[in-house]
Amino acid sequence: MMKKVTPLWFQKLFDRLAKEHIDQSGAAGTIQEVDFIRRLFNLCNSEHILDVGCGTGRHCVELAKRGYCVTGLDYSRQMINSARRYARQQNVSVRFVHQDARRMSFDREFDGAISICEGAFGLMINDEDNILILKQIFKALKPNGKLLLNVLHAAFAFRHPEQDVYFDPATCYGYWTEELTTKTGRLKKIYCCNRYYTFPEIKKILEEIGFIVLRGYGCLAGQFRRKKIELDDFEILVYAVKPS
Ligand SMILES: C[S@@+](CC[C@H](N)C(=O)[O-])C[C@H]1O[C@@H](n2cnc3c(N)ncnc32)[C@H](O)[C@@H]1O
Repeated sequence: MMKKVTPLWFQKLFDRLAKEHIDQSGAAGTIQEVDFIRRLFNLCNSEHILDVGCGTGRHCVELAKRGYCVTGLDYSRQMINSARRYARQQNVSVRFVHQDARRMSFDREFDGAISICEGAFGLMINDEDNILILKQIFKALKPNGKLLLNVLHAAFAFRHPEQDVYFDPATCYGYWTEELTTKTGRLKKIYCCNRYYTFPEIKKILEEIGFIVLRGYGCLAGQFRRKKIELDDFEILVYAVKPS
């Protein structure tokens, strides 16, 4: 399965899923997640926030409604188109950028960055490329800039290997397939992958890049809170800051 995953698998998948995702943009979780980010980052009102792997822009739009200056970045053209439409509908202004997070060119522009609910990080086919995204986020942040990152939790995968079609404990990559119907009605298989991390591993990676890791929390979509990490948490949130 591993050999069948192409480097840009996520673009193919998310281009096809954009329509479905926009229908969920008002998902109950969005407001709670943004409330949590606002409190955690201790934001006032005028900060510039970067959303990496913004999808249909649900967090970008909610942040913009609260007065922040928001940039959403995604490498799926259809996701970016949906995000622009959604922001227009909601009457807010957000800068959306169609770009690969590995090639971001921002330099000390942002007070805060998020990559959550499986944003770009963790979806690359190798560790170097996943880490490259974190390095680019580090560069994009101003000194004292904050990061909230969402990762899949390796402890959960070790305890529940049956949850992933194929989880490789040697690499902590999980693999699965999605079936999509093409415009001509044919069924097409997309091979997908996801990297799982333990908290100590992701903490070490972030620290090697230069971040100070402040906290890790156990996490459920739509229910972000300051919760201790437990073995059965499927996802974890990592809160870090770029030193001043
Ligand atoms: C699971 S969706 C999550 C979207 C959004 N964060 C949310 O919570 O609704 C993941 C998004 O990350 C984007 N993505 C994946 N890899 C990326 C990369 N290397 N650069 C930019 N975007 C990427 C995908 O196109 C997709 O829209």
